[in-house]
Amino acid sequence: MTSAVTVRIMWAFLGLAVAAALLVALVVWRPSGLYLWLKAMHVIAVIAWMAGMLYLPRLFVYHCEAEPGSKQSETFKVMEHRLLTVIINPAMVATWVLGLWLAHDGGFVWSHWLHAKFGLVVLMSALHGLFVRCVRDFAADRNRRSQRFYRLINEAPTVLMIGIVILVIVKPF
Ligand code: HEM
Repeated sequence: MTSAVTVRIMWAFLGLAVAAALLVALVVWRPSGLYLWLKAMHVIAVIAWMAGMLYLPRLFVYHCEAEPGSKQSETFKVMEHRLLTVIINPAMVATWVLGLWLAHDGGFVWSHWLHAKFGLVVLMSALHGLFVRCVRDFAADRNRRSQRFYRLINEAPTVLMIGIVILVIVKPF
């Protein structure tokens, strides 16, 4: 691993540590309006997670066209790895932690809309898991999935996101 990559990883960990410390301080201090602050952080984490989940499969579509071992393919590997480790993974953890806290603190644990939303978020997380496998397969030059597969799977995060946002904002049941 190059020193530049090590430095970036250290910055990412530092950022995560600061965010975690801030979160703990807020929960211990409990200022008025804490719920809304944490909801704002939840939405920020959701935006980062979704940005990555929408972009990563697009990279896979273009990566399929690159010859394994080519300069282009190696560039895609770096882009996919960084997007996953620096943005998508931490954003998913933050979304889950903050979402579960909101569900508990907001008294929504027995609400049916939340159960439905939870189901869709579990599906989104499973998709995240599939993307992790795809990144690993591309990194090892052993991708066997077609470009058509990636074009189709590219639409899945959008469909799930639409359902999740409607459920949490409209709260239809
Ligand atoms: C385990 C995961 C999650 C849980 C338990 C969870 C739970 C919650 C809860 C309880 C709220 C507060 C609702 C309110 O105050 O009315 C909320 C807000 C929100 N969540 Fe999540 N959430 C999760 C993941 C997600 C994901 C993946 C998305 C989007 C793709 C999302 C989008 C939003 C949005 C946009 C709001 C703000 C809604 C508003 O203010 O009206 N959440 N979430």
